[in-house]
Amino acid sequence: MSVHNEVKRVTTHTLQWMKDRGEKISMLTAYDFSMACILDDAGIDVLLVGDSASNVMAGHETTLPITLDHMIYHAQSVIRACKRCLVIVDLPFGSYQGNSKEALNSAIRIMKESGAHGVKLEGGEEVADSIKRIVGAGVPVMGHLGLTPQSIYKFGTYTVRAKEEEEAEMLMRNARILQESGCFSVVLEKIPATLGKTVSEDLRIPVIGIGAGRHTDGQVLVMHDMLGITKNFSPRFLRRYLNLYEEISDATRNYIKDVKSQDFPSENEQY
Ligand code: KIV
Repeated sequence: MSVHNEVKRVTTHTLQWMKDRGEKISMLTAYDFSMACILDDAGIDVLLVGDSASNVMAGHETTLPITLDHMIYHAQSVIRACKRCLVIVDLPFGSYQGNSKEALNSAIRIMKESGAHGVKLEGGEEVADSIKRIVGAGVPVMGHLGLTPQSIYKFGTYTVRAKEEEEAEMLMRNARILQESGCFSVVLEKIPATLGKTVSEDLRIPVIGIGAGRHTDGQVLVMHDMLGITKNFSPRFLRRYLNLYEEISDATRNYIKDVKSQDFPSENEQY
C-alpha cells in the first residue's frame, strides 16, 4: 500500500515519509476554489498557491506585481476546497526580502488569514535568517532554487540555470543551507537532471522538481500549463495532459452558434 492511499490528510511529515519510502510526491499549482476541489478530490499530494497566479490569473508578464493581499485571497479560495492535500503558499516578491521580521510578518499573515499549511520563498543563503525565523514561529517553509522567477531581471532570461560548474556548486551549497535552516522541502526549477539527482540524493528533505529531471522526490507543474489552458508556453519539461484551450474555444464557439441560431435555450431549458 502506498503512503498516498494511506493518509487522510497530507502533512509535511507525510512528504518526508514518502521520500524515505521512495514514493514520488505529486504537486500542482492552484489559485481558485473550483479547480482546487477537483485537484484535491483527484488525490494530489500538494497544492501550491504559486505566485505564478500573477501570470496565469492576472495576466502579468512576470511574478513580480502580485501582492501579499492577492496571494491571501487566492490561498483562502484554495484552502476552502481542500480536504486532503497539503496547501503551501508563495510569499510574493517584496514581502520577505527586506529583513527577517518582514518575512515573518508576511508568513504569519498568510497562515492567519488563509489557513494555509506553510509558505514557500525563493533564494538561498540570503534568505536563511528569514527561514529560521519563520520556522521558529512554527510555520513550515519550502525553499525554491534554480530558476527563481522573482529574480528574472537579474537572470535576464528564463533559460536553464546551473549548467556551469560554479553555479551548480553554489546551488548545492544553498540547498544544504536551506535544509539546515529548517526547510521541510525544496523546489528546484529548470536545472540539469544530473544536478536534480545529486541534490535529491544529498538532501534528507524532499526535493520537488519542475524541469529538474526524473530523479527528484516529486514533480510540480503549473496547473494551467499541464491542462493546456496556456497556449504559447512549451518548455521541454512540460507535459500537457489536456488541450483545454482548444476544448474551451470549441465549446464557446458552439455556445455562440446556439445562442445566435436560437437553438439555446430549447423548450426543455426554460421555465
Ligand atoms: O509560482 C509557481 O507556480 C511556482 C512553481 C513553478 C514551483 O513557484
